[in-house]
Amino acid sequence: MRSTGLIQLDVHLTDADAALRADVARGLVARPKELPPKWFYDARGSELFEEITALPEYYPFRTERALLTDSVADIARSSGADTVVELGSGSSTKTRLLLDAFAAAGTLRRYVPQDVSESALRGAVDELHRHYPTLQLHGVVGDFTRDLDRLPGAEPGGKRMIAFLGGTIGNLLPGPRHAFLTHVRSVLEPGEQLLLGTGLATDPAIMVPAYDDAAGVTADFNRNVLRVLNRELGADFDVDAFDHVALWDAENSWIEMRLRATRAMRVRVPELDLEVTFDEGEELITEISAKFRPETVDAMVAEAGFDATRRWTDPQDRFALSLLTAR
Ligand code: AVJ
Repeated sequence: MRSTGLIQLDVHLTDADAALRADVARGLVARPKELPPKWFYDARGSELFEEITALPEYYPFRTERALLTDSVADIARSSGADTVVELGSGSSTKTRLLLDAFAAAGTLRRYVPQDVSESALRGAVDELHRHYPTLQLHGVVGDFTRDLDRLPGAEPGGKRMIAFLGGTIGNLLPGPRHAFLTHVRSVLEPGEQLLLGTGLATDPAIMVPAYDDAAGVTADFNRNVLRVLNRELGADFDVDAFDHVALWDAENSWIEMRLRATRAMRVRVPELDLEVTFDEGEELITEISAKFRPETVDAMVAEAGFDATRRWTDPQDRFALSLLTAR
């Protein structure tokens, strides 16, 4: 922990290595094989995601940013929070929009960014301190699925709003998604808020190319998880022997990304003392990205103990920002 007046940084060193091992040991023997999307994001994966956000096909990022730009003053006035918490605070343009609006609304006293990357968080906090010299900054390095209990409490008489943007909630399966929302609810006091960004289901001809771009950046991002396993666990995946697959699963209302083995192969994972085989054409599920309807957002958050207070959507109904209040 570092504390220099207005700035504080808490580091919760969760054992990422053990978590990766457990996920891979479980996922590679599951049927179908699967890996959680969180392991995409090493330095190269994070860069590739940045590249994805600039692709013409990848509308979610731009849509949410435009929606936030248009609605953030309204959001800040509706909220009245003095503390803005941001989970997975990588995206600094969105942070600035939030902070400027809450500052203009006159309520902002503290910003609490949370991220898994200590270096990214340190950089962000230092940079923000220069732009908002009177704002309290309390960074929390940790995993948003595990370290929510470590978030600082409300200021006396104050109110927190947790922002969870980007549509990242859609990367969680229904069970973990419910557990996550319930956990968020449990760290809030009644009346405190969650600002939730969700992709909305739209035309598959729009959604699928967003996850299967012509330049192949998403394909490269998808395969990156195999590079992570090769480096971290000594695995010997032939990364180029996997095709990128993106499809719309209408029944589950999610985009699914997979890696398809182009030939039969045997893969060794020495660090796990594991050897697995792939049949030709066998697919490994690497990500789901759920797309909601406004009503399914309301039902999902109600089950976790939130009331949907206000919602903002873009003109084409492709993305929603929901301001939710803890009951
Ligand atoms: C992490 C939720 C912002 O699911 O759209 C982008 C990740 N995957 N392209 C998403 C992602 C493939 C992205 N989010």
